[in-house]
Amino acid sequence: MVRSSALRFWVQCVAVSAALFSSENVLAQKSLKEAYKDFFPIGVAVAPRNLSGPESDLIKKQFNSITPENAMKMGPIHPEQNRYNWKDADAIVAFGQQNGIKVRGHTLCWHNQTPKWFFTDSLGKQVSREELLARLKQHITDVMTRYKGKIYAWDVVNEAVPDTSNSIYRASKFYQIIGPDYIEKAFEYAHAVDPEAKLFYNDYNTESVAKREKIYQLVKKLKDKNVPIHGVGLQAHWSIYEPTQAELEKSITQFASLGLAVQITELDVSVYPKEHERREKKTNDTSTFTAEMEQKQSAHYKMLFDTFRKYKGTVTGVTFWNVSDKSTWLDNFPVPNRKDYPLLFDQNYQPKKAFDGVVNF
Ligand code: GLA
Repeated sequence: MVRSSALRFWVQCVAVSAALFSSENVLAQKSLKEAYKDFFPIGVAVAPRNLSGPESDLIKKQFNSITPENAMKMGPIHPEQNRYNWKDADAIVAFGQQNGIKVRGHTLCWHNQTPKWFFTDSLGKQVSREELLARLKQHITDVMTRYKGKIYAWDVVNEAVPDTSNSIYRASKFYQIIGPDYIEKAFEYAHAVDPEAKLFYNDYNTESVAKREKIYQLVKKLKDKNVPIHGVGLQAHWSIYEPTQAELEKSITQFASLGLAVQITELDVSVYPKEHERREKKTNDTSTFTAEMEQKQSAHYKMLFDTFRKYKGTVTGVTFWNVSDKSTWLDNFPVPNRKDYPLLFDQNYQPKKAFDGVVNF
């Protein structure tokens, strides 16, 4: 009897100290923004629904930069020629201001999620080069003026380079109607509105040899013409299988050789091999986060952040695309209804194994 109550007491003591130890551990754990305060801001893409409740607490604790995931894209913010929808973008900028969090703007000119009206007149006919340039200028001027001084960096042109084909320009409506100089015009319009804002060209698949080279040619032409561009955004929609450290270093150094900053603008590390085109779910597409995936993802995140730190001064920002594994755009892309686990926080907003290797160095 005496022995068993002593044993019970001992077991309780062990349990209590284990709990204390682990909660102290959580408290003692550095946040992302503290760990990187001498390197670069750590950002996250947000929607208005993330700005209250547990996600908002997580954002305030871990991040010191935010990017509107969708709210500033051409379609959502400018659905009709004479109507802007400022509500969501205003809420995100106000959240940043209230909490001392920087805001990155995304994005002023993109071939995707552009409203139809942009390219057609009232009779449904395609607009002229002059008209499209005038609309682009108006759009950039209105959006940037509203947030002038509150947004420190903008993705001015997004994804203007194709993955395949030999051309360095994607055959978008902007390209077809205006010609390749729509890109430099967009940067010039943006710089005229806010000369303080850092202006970026942003794209994905930037570690593919062919695409990196095309992006390099594109931004080099801009630099040679003294177009006001300050950096290249590597979207960084990567996976546990790519890129290699050498591929990543090549992208960073090649763009930096033009005197440009590099920002990691949309980071996620999918646990599946990377695919850039939408496709249907197949029978062997499972949605389990295996121990092997967890291991690979931790090693990959560690390598990525080791590399970002190595290029301190060139890499001037790192932004994650979504807050936690609870819900991310990769749950529905490229395969609808296949759950992905690409971020540093799990479905209960707790730091994953990969988090440790990112904050402890
Ligand atoms: C691209 C865009 C982002 C976003 C992602 C998917 O990377 O730049 O704005 O749409 O696709 O969420």
